[in-house]
Amino acid sequence: MAGNDPALGRQTKNDESQVIREAARRRTFAVISHPDAGKSTLTEALALHAQVISEAGAVHGKGGRKGVVSDWLEMEKARGISITSAALQFAYGDTVINLLDTPGHSDFSEDTYRVLAAVDCAVMLLDAAKGLEPQTLKLFDVCRHRNIPVITFVNKWDRPGRGALELCDEISERISLRPMPLTWPVGEAGAFKGVLDRTDGGFIGFTRNAAGASRATIQTMTADEAAESVGEEWEQAGEESELLSISGADMDYDEFLDAKATPVLFGSAVLNFGVKHLLDLLVELAPRPTPRPDVDGGARSLEAPFSAFVFKVQTGMDRAHRDQVAFARVCSGRFDRGMVVTHAASGRPFATKYAQQVFGQQRSTLDVAYPGDVIGLVNASNLRVGDTLYAGKPKVTFPGLPSFAPRHFATVAAKDPGRAKQFRRGVEQLEQEGVVQVLRSDRRGEATPIFAAVGPMQFEVATDRLQNEFGVTILLNHLPYTVVRRLGDPNERKLIDGHSSEVLTRGDGAELALFTDDITLRLLLRKHPDVKLESLAGGV
Ligand code: G4P
Repeated sequence: MAGNDPALGRQTKNDESQVIREAARRRTFAVISHPDAGKSTLTEALALHAQVISEAGAVHGKGGRKGVVSDWLEMEKARGISITSAALQFAYGDTVINLLDTPGHSDFSEDTYRVLAAVDCAVMLLDAAKGLEPQTLKLFDVCRHRNIPVITFVNKWDRPGRGALELCDEISERISLRPMPLTWPVGEAGAFKGVLDRTDGGFIGFTRNAAGASRATIQTMTADEAAESVGEEWEQAGEESELLSISGADMDYDEFLDAKATPVLFGSAVLNFGVKHLLDLLVELAPRPTPRPDVDGGARSLEAPFSAFVFKVQTGMDRAHRDQVAFARVCSGRFDRGMVVTHAASGRPFATKYAQQVFGQQRSTLDVAYPGDVIGLVNASNLRVGDTLYAGKPKVTFPGLPSFAPRHFATVAAKDPGRAKQFRRGVEQLEQEGVVQVLRSDRRGEATPIFAAVGPMQFEVATDRLQNEFGVTILLNHLPYTVVRRLGDPNERKLIDGHSSEVLTRGDGAELALFTDDITLRLLLRKHPDVKLESLAGGV
């Protein structure tokens, strides 16, 4: 740490070149998939390769196995789904992999969208029998919006599924992403013999172990050896691979980086087939952290003093301590635990004595971090999603994260008026964490805010949290609004407030106009064609 004064965020030339070297080793990504495609299994398999966890199932936590990733919330345990996000960091050879977990339930997606603001690459995980499913499509939209390069892993090839060509066609037709298979299955889904490695023409063979064994035996062969021992399926795979080359499906790195084309691998997460290949691909192809643009459009160079932005805030991870953790992605410089940084929104100093690496229930103290890494800042009660932290000078502010267009609205009130104070504190907390968006208006009054959510399950999480953490039972009254627009001019509020529409103010100051349906909105626009209404950013 020579020459680096953490308190001042000063860096010497040596530190700068170290930061550049460390950033170049980082690969920060998330898996996007529909529930049940095998994300937990894949995460587990990736982590096992790097041997960060000793036992299969330690990440996953389903079926009575020990859970590590994200089963801290009671509700999550009961449902066996992952609602919270965590970051898993592990070394793979000389590379440092940061895998950001994304909540998988189709209803609870706002959190997932935000996680995608903190990654440099995504792995799109498809179930071979199902192809592109609704949640995958939604998440892919966010990747497209943010220009995030995507690697595709077609999973569950060990059991009957759809044809490889059909799946590739679906990717190019439905999401206009050109598939570039790097491996090609030998034997159809369910009768899988292995893959043809399209980069060197060799065969990676796959033999199921004895029943019950969770790993396949993998054997590599040259093309000639495979032609001899595999037979017809090998020949067919070879022909298909040639056809792919003719039809322009070969790897093009620039198109991948431009998010126009996706490398595709076929495998089986549960049998650990194709998983090492995926890791190698991440090392080889996934972009390393690059300078992040700030609000003024300039880019904060990687070697500039420490800066980071908060992409997630979470409370109650550790019941015993009831603390709040803000997860921030490092954008520049070196982070040293203990350094005092500035909170850009308030201009106040923020001490980082308790920085941690948080992965589900496991926490470890984090001493040093570099661009691409995620730091968990404990007791960060002033930090909000989207906030910037920085060290030294000049000040930097990164653009805030988009709030997604809510589709579900409900008034909320404490059942017991005697708990009004706890209710107010609890609502503030949930708003700060972004569990739900909170809307208010003078007309409705402070005591009955409105919860707005992208998916209805956010209401359940909010209800559960208010009950368990603040001892407040709430009464939710669902409102019939389905359409939301941002009101450009607050003076036009009176044109909208009525029976089938009203204007409410969100915590970030945005004035949101809610309508019961499109017809109401259209009628209003016909009557007042000049009223300024915009669609919400990132309204996926
Ligand atoms: P998710 O996190 O995306 O929701 O999926 P998860 O990993 O929980 O996997 C969903 C189910 O699919 C699990 O079965 C898992 O074992 C299975 N699975 C994952 N990858 C593969 C694969 O490559 N091949 C096959 N055949 N199955 C796979 P489950 O019965 O729901 O749970 P479990 O009790 O087996 O854990």
